[in-house]
Amino acid sequence: RKTHRIAVLPGDGIGKETVPEGLRVLDAAARRFGFDLELSHFDWSCETYAQTGKMMPEDGLDQLAKSDSVFLGAVGWPGVPDHISLWGLLIPIRRGFDQYISLRPCKLMPGARTPLADRTPADIDFYVVRENTEGEYSSTGGKMFPGTEREFVTQDSVFTRVGVDRVLKYAFELAMTRPRRKLTSATKSNGITFTMPYWDERFAEMAKNYPGVTTDQFHIDILCAHFVQHPDWFDVVVGSNLFGDILSDLGPAVAGSIGIAPSANINPEKKFPSMFEPVHGSAPDIAGKWICNPIGQIWSGAMMLEHLGEKAAADCIVKAIETLLAEGGPRTRDMGGNAGTVDVGKALAEAVSQG
Ligand code: NAD
Ligand code: IPM
Ligand code: MN
Repeated sequence: RKTHRIAVLPGDGIGKETVPEGLRVLDAAARRFGFDLELSHFDWSCETYAQTGKMMPEDGLDQLAKSDSVFLGAVGWPGVPDHISLWGLLIPIRRGFDQYISLRPCKLMPGARTPLADRTPADIDFYVVRENTEGEYSSTGGKMFPGTEREFVTQDSVFTRVGVDRVLKYAFELAMTRPRRKLTSATKSNGITFTMPYWDERFAEMAKNYPGVTTDQFHIDILCAHFVQHPDWFDVVVGSNLFGDILSDLGPAVAGSIGIAPSANINPEKKFPSMFEPVHGSAPDIAGKWICNPIGQIWSGAMMLEHLGEKAAADCIVKAIETLLAEGGPRTRDMGGNAGTVDVGKALAEAVSQG
């Protein structure tokens, strides 16, 4: 019997509501498919920051490194500036564990309502592959001459050859596994004169290794428009850290709700733990009411199981989500229902137990 060690970090806001539902469904899957989950719980959050002045202990990453995967809710809460909380917990995990791939599926589930007229599940089914350790999210730069008339700020965007090539390679490999074998690159080489032409250059170079993959590229502005007007054009979309971030909220929005969107922060070499978290944040506007949608968290749990080699269990969870939505099971307000967070979690755990 296999044991997977999971570090559990609910974090802030609705993370504290979605993570227990994620664990409920993971537990059902473990029983049903015959493996064990050894959970370690960490309460690191903006509350920890208020008490200790730190989002996580000095040796936080060493503590997490003892697990096979990290299962995270959300980080960020009013009162702590976002760049302090996120750069104190979430981003150090992504960077410290070299989770250079952020994989974010965007799929219109049967029974979910897209805001786009006349679109069906066959039209919206693609992946955003986001570069997750460098690019626009770099830590070089700063404020000079603060408080004076000469004051200015800079922030460098760092695109390394290794960093760009490895995310492009992952995206091409993923495209190869898909029936349409299509890869779209998000760029902005008309306005950004060094990094984006370089990205395009590396994309063209990598494409030579994958003659079986059809490629195209769009500037990020029109690409956003195409996501809305032509979601059926997309199969796998690869983008830099910032562009991938933007596209991975837009994609789920066109597919019905940000509340169901999952994500995987992957270190493909498995040298470090990977981390699984919903795309959404801590949602302070609805936190504490137990009305948030737990599906993004639960689906992230399925991605975690797949990464850990439990493919049948992962498929069973995704199938349960599809069936729940298609057959009018309990749904939260963001999807037009009035069920609570726990109702949805329990229904999915039940379905997995029987599935
Ligand atoms: P958000 O995703 O938290 O919320 C945006 C909107 O979507 C809100 O109206 C919210 O109610 C709704 N929403 C989000 N998740 C939902 C769910 N599961 N069910 C139903 N509705 C849901 O984004 P934001 O408001 O920009 O950010 C709030 C905080 O979260 C900030 O501190 C931000 O930095 C942080 N954040 C963290 C992460 C992360 O931990 N990965 C991601 C995004 C934002
Ligand atoms: C996400 C979030 C984070 C990001 C923020 C909270 C730093 O928006 O996971 O998409 O930009 O990566
Ligand atoms: Mn985001």
